[in-house]
Amino acid sequence: MADASIESVLKEDRKFDPPGHFKARALVDDARLSSMHERAGKDHAGFWADLARREIDWHRPFDTALDDSDAPFFKWFADGELNVAYNCLDRHLEDRGDKTAIIFEGDDGAVEHISYRELHARVCMFANALKARDIGLSDRVVIYMPNTPQAVVAMLACARIGAIHSVVFGGFSAPSLKDRIEDAQARAVITADGNYRGGKLIPLKDTVDKALADGCESIETVIVLKRAGNDVSMDDGRDVWWDKAIDGQPAECEPEWVEAEHPLFILYTSGSTGKPKGIQHSTGGYLLGAIVTCKWVFDLQDDDVFWCTADVGWITGHSYITYGPTALGATQVVFEGVPTYPEGDRFWKMVDDHKVSIFYTAPTAIRALMKLGNELPQKHELDSLRLLGTVGEPINPEAWMWYHRVIGHEQCPIVDTWWQTETGAQMIAPVPGVTPTKPGSCTHALPGISAEILDEEGRPVTAADKGGNLVISRPWPHMLRTIWGDPDRYKSTYFGKYGNQVYVVGDAAERDEEGYFRILGRTDDVVNISGHRLGTMEVESALVAHEAVAEAAVVSRPHEVKGEAIVAFAILKSGEPGEALAGELRNWVSEQLGAIAKPEEIRFADGLPKTRSGKIMRRLLRAIARGEQITQDTSTLENPQIIEQLQRAGR
Ligand code: WTA
Repeated sequence: MADASIESVLKEDRKFDPPGHFKARALVDDARLSSMHERAGKDHAGFWADLARREIDWHRPFDTALDDSDAPFFKWFADGELNVAYNCLDRHLEDRGDKTAIIFEGDDGAVEHISYRELHARVCMFANALKARDIGLSDRVVIYMPNTPQAVVAMLACARIGAIHSVVFGGFSAPSLKDRIEDAQARAVITADGNYRGGKLIPLKDTVDKALADGCESIETVIVLKRAGNDVSMDDGRDVWWDKAIDGQPAECEPEWVEAEHPLFILYTSGSTGKPKGIQHSTGGYLLGAIVTCKWVFDLQDDDVFWCTADVGWITGHSYITYGPTALGATQVVFEGVPTYPEGDRFWKMVDDHKVSIFYTAPTAIRALMKLGNELPQKHELDSLRLLGTVGEPINPEAWMWYHRVIGHEQCPIVDTWWQTETGAQMIAPVPGVTPTKPGSCTHALPGISAEILDEEGRPVTAADKGGNLVISRPWPHMLRTIWGDPDRYKSTYFGKYGNQVYVVGDAAERDEEGYFRILGRTDDVVNISGHRLGTMEVESALVAHEAVAEAAVVSRPHEVKGEAIVAFAILKSGEPGEALAGELRNWVSEQLGAIAKPEEIRFADGLPKTRSGKIMRRLLRAIARGEQITQDTSTLENPQIIEQLQRAGR
């Protein structure tokens, strides 16, 4: 979508006011929201500084709010000192020590309640265990764990000692894990023997062993949680069981006070090249973003039961499981399993069982559950719910309306939250007691967030329903600080287009006549499969790493449940094109990158459509993958006959 203007065909007229009962108790009302916008407009840095002083317990208060002298390497609250684990745990002990922090439900249905006091003790013990293995300030620790309280404990323990965690989603393959370990030069891996998801064993430790088998020399320690009880091999010098590691460790651990700009974590995400980027977040600014958005967008209050269904392996799990809700002292559900196991009403049953009041999930899950019919949710009361949320990809109005009616019983505002791994927290989203919502729109930018749409020349796009490039034109506290080990890539990827102050999102967007934002999709070679970002280049590199493949191009096409699905075009150097090889290649990609990257379809041909200068014409491939008429100008094509062959390959 490199076009200067992107026309949208979708027109949505429905609009929903916040229900009266919701408005009546909301944390943010009209007046407060207006005054926040006004204050932020007049004094951007001062607005954020006030919030940072109010919301965070500082060990040493800061004087300087924003330092932009080295843009685009911005610093927030840089002379302040704090500890994130202290803010998420210790400060609640006096008033909320016995309050439930986590209601954990395992894949098998077993439930465990963990209080703030207990969570604090577990984090301290694990932090001491890390220290005992010589892990400390600024060391990188890879966490490759199931979505369990121990994953949260491991993250908070790293934060407590100033170690930098890099959580790798448990669905990633050994080669992906290895790349991330090596890029971060991690000293330790925290994992589990395995775990069950949807009744299926995920052998995490085996995958770690494979990743460490060649390379990963920086790893000295592997801590292994016993979860599934499957057989694993333990390397005597390197591997230790979690229980053994914490055995005898004290339940107190003095927090390591770090500067606000100290990296809290790295999280790898896909970009336009073959190599994932290590998105580096800060301590103070990041924490502030997680806290204020939990208040503004989730209206998260003391008596709520919050449930974010994401995995801690993604940014959503970082900000809205590990850090945001705990910093507020909230009660939340953590779930290890999948929405459809043992039955398609698992989510709805859990909402009733745990009296969930705020529920946050992905459009792909909503679509998948919608397909199962209304009977499943209708078996449950769902009357504890007061707010629903979505994240990760555009939600189609049909799924939005189903969520509104069948899950929310028309009583719950829906917050469609737009943000990214890089933005650290929600950026464009409704404030549910104030903002009337429209299906398919993430509505307006939050206070202190300067979201705009620019054309290719950098001019603001002001006309309604005209697309352009979404940008954030001022730094914000919870923005990424750099790409780990690659500041040049940070600068060119995010600030290359419009200068050092304007963050380029990588999404196209438009606004309607009332200024409501609608996200139109990525402008780079990133696709969004079931709400997960994937670089097409990563899939292409995996394909050409197979002995039979000479060249590959990967595009996406719309998919009813996943949002987008991958279609790969492959040129062979050996082997026979056909079902067997297509199946082999699909599995190959899954082994190389993880199951989410598995192509839906592989098409073989003798060549790819290229311009005379040798550039693959991706827009053309996209049209072919979608079975659309070719309307583009193909006169610059080197090899026009290839088009028909590629179209035929899909029949
Ligand atoms: C897309 C997930 C439309 C978008 C938090 C963005 C969305 C990418 C929405 C980031 C939304 C996320 N509406 N699109 N509400 N939320 N996206 O880094 O393309 O995994 O750039 O962060 O997902 O994906 P990421």
